[in-house]
Amino acid sequence: MDGIDTTHAHSARIYDYLLGGKDWFAADKKAAERLLSLGPTARVGARENRAFMHRATRVLAREFGIRQFLDLGTGIPTEPNLHQVAQETAPDSRVVYVDNDPLVVEYASALMNGTPEGATTYMEADVRTEDVLTAPEVADTLDLSRPVAVSMVALLHFLTDDQATTLVRRTVDSLAPGSFLVLAHSSSDFADPEAVETFNSAYGEGTATPALRSRQEIDPYFDGLELLDPGLVVAHRWRNEELSDLPDEQVSVYAGVARKP
Ligand SMILES: C[S@@+](CC[C@H](N)C(=O)[O-])C[C@H]1O[C@@H](n2cnc3c(N)ncnc32)[C@H](O)[C@@H]1O
Repeated sequence: MDGIDTTHAHSARIYDYLLGGKDWFAADKKAAERLLSLGPTARVGARENRAFMHRATRVLAREFGIRQFLDLGTGIPTEPNLHQVAQETAPDSRVVYVDNDPLVVEYASALMNGTPEGATTYMEADVRTEDVLTAPEVADTLDLSRPVAVSMVALLHFLTDDQATTLVRRTVDSLAPGSFLVLAHSSSDFADPEAVETFNSAYGEGTATPALRSRQEIDPYFDGLELLDPGLVVAHRWRNEELSDLPDEQVSVYAGVARKP
């Protein structure tokens, strides 16, 4: 596999290991096992984060009529992927996936198996340095003059404060009114210093800059937007009909969905 550095752990593959996938290398397993040595949080958080993405996509397709999705930091395909959830409700949904891990492109076919009525596309890009909203792959698939749901699910905690803020503001500014921001972010609110250190060292080997943030630091990403009920909450509490007695600290991810007025 050309261009894939298997000697350093990468967030996409660590996450795949935590979700029980099979697309990781020894370095990723080692980093993931370091996270798991602290308890179940890493695995529970990954699972609940993914489940939040499914619920948010379903709500936006069903209740808000969204038919266009831009998924930044897609991850290695794990069924169901975002387009499958959206197209189950609305087969004409159009989806653009973006990730900077070259391994994700190897599996891109699993991201392209959508409905004939809809469209799915994969684009390799680094959201820290590339303005994907101006990319031809996006313009070919999405009509940016109409509402789009942009997801940054478990992405911003791999970016510095400046990179994260710039990405959110630049993206939101380019979207049409009626668009949505779907955000999930691992939080420091529940982590002791050892857990923060382990998160940073497990994820920090590659090019990412891991940064767990507090709820207070995550909330401003929604500035100028209207948060849907129930607001910014721990991921398993976002419109989850299955009553969950999981303690917040086991999930440790904040999640919210907001509309651009
Ligand atoms: C923890 S995974 C989340 C995957 C998926 N969004 C989910 O929540 O199920 C984070 C993903 O973000 C990608 N990523 C991290 N930094 C990125 C960057 N600067 N540009 C594009 N993708 C990035 C990683 O490669 C990885 O696939």
